[in-house]
Amino acid sequence: MTRLIQNSTFRLFKNKSNRLLFTCYPTCTHAKLSNLTRSSIEYSNIEGEKAQLKMEKSTSKTIVLTGYGGYDKLRIEEWPIMKPGKDEVLVNMRTNSINFAELMARQGLYDGSPKLPGVLGMEGAGIVTQLGEDVTNLKVGDRVICIKMFGLWKEFATVPAEQCFPMPDAMTFEEGVALPVNYVTAYHMLFDIGNLRKGKKVVIHMAAGGVGIAATQLCKTVPNVTVFGTASAVKHKIIREVGVTHPIDYRTQDWQTEVTKVAPDGVDIILDPLLGSDATKAYATLKPLGKVIHFGAANMVSGPGTNYFQIAKTWWQTYRPAILSMMPANKVVAGYHMGHLPQEPIREAMVDLIALYNEGKIKPRIDSVWSYEQIADAMAQMHDRKNIGKVILTPYDENNITPKT
Ligand SMILES: NC(=O)c1ccc[n+]([C@@H]2O[C@H](COP(=O)([O-])OP(=O)(O)OC[C@H]3O[C@@H](n4cnc5c(N)ncnc54)[C@H](OP(=O)(O)O)[C@@H]3O)[C@@H](O)[C@H]2O)c1
Repeated sequence: MTRLIQNSTFRLFKNKSNRLLFTCYPTCTHAKLSNLTRSSIEYSNIEGEKAQLKMEKSTSKTIVLTGYGGYDKLRIEEWPIMKPGKDEVLVNMRTNSINFAELMARQGLYDGSPKLPGVLGMEGAGIVTQLGEDVTNLKVGDRVICIKMFGLWKEFATVPAEQCFPMPDAMTFEEGVALPVNYVTAYHMLFDIGNLRKGKKVVIHMAAGGVGIAATQLCKTVPNVTVFGTASAVKHKIIREVGVTHPIDYRTQDWQTEVTKVAPDGVDIILDPLLGSDATKAYATLKPLGKVIHFGAANMVSGPGTNYFQIAKTWWQTYRPAILSMMPANKVVAGYHMGHLPQEPIREAMVDLIALYNEGKIKPRIDSVWSYEQIADAMAQMHDRKNIGKVILTPYDENNITPKT
């Protein structure tokens, strides 16, 4: 059977093993696909024939963490494709992402890492290819964003259906995968914990990274917010364009001194992903009623390998404020870890964030796209502090990937 829909030809046919398959010429968009009845389509995809070959595989290309340490601990293997459980869906991942958490997990520094050999990957964007028997909120063929505490660096991954979010038609798989961890983290910290309102002053560290850019864009959704952003000097032009009011080169300048020059009374919110001496400075830089939110320990990481001296130094330099001294100081110290949150607040934030995307108020910035085979280079992009925005992985097109930076 062949149909012509919006200048694309769709064809249903049976292969040698009598399986019903689907093709689309030329490469078609999701919007066009949504016109089809999917009941008779075993699997559909925006890339037609190429996608069928993927689905006919019985194994899934997988990035496996074999031990803790450097890049050599990661290997590409073919793992069996698992059947989704009752409340799960099987998703053909088109993109995954790298979060700082995965750099730390590879070094054995991340609370909640999978058992070895295991699979990292907290985010994926792809196409639903199979439904668990109790799943009613999704269909085969839906484009979804997935979030899970690891296990998603797989060509085909099973994901609880409630942790999958339908993607807007205009959203690319690269943008979709860049949304959950970075934007939900920034959203909860600024709006739920930080109570960000107009006219406030906010310090964002690692401002050119995934969370940093998300936090800056969310600050811009509130009128007249002043953003201080720390980043390597070469990234300042871009973070200024994203919305940072005062970029600070933390490598050559003391960020606390620079902030205090502009805001001598202190600031309202500091997002601290660093710990160590930077956490201590953060508390001192708050104005009364100010809030510091600790959400990472990047100062423990000093390169691809595990550095125990750096870990101990960061731990030692991190302040431990006494509650009795916080009361007269009128300062708030908070912690945030998305991996330990229940699903409900994550869902609530995702719904709001997808609405903000549809309104054009936020747009993930993609730094670069790498194939699974390039996982070491992709991680080095972050360890070497080269990324501006999100570093993306894809299980496909290993010969055709060009880093965008
Ligand atoms: N608690 C949570 O739920 C949660 C969720 C997401 C992320 N986080 C935390 O948020 C922080 C940012 O995460 P992300 O995924 O968005 O990463 P990212 O910012 O994209 O990370 C890479 C960038 O961080 C900067 N950086 C600062 N210290 C670094 C170091 N020791 N090693 C390498 N790069 C360093 C570099 O930029 P410059 O050259 O500009 O310094 C580098 O390009 C991390 O600490 C992460 O653990 C926490």
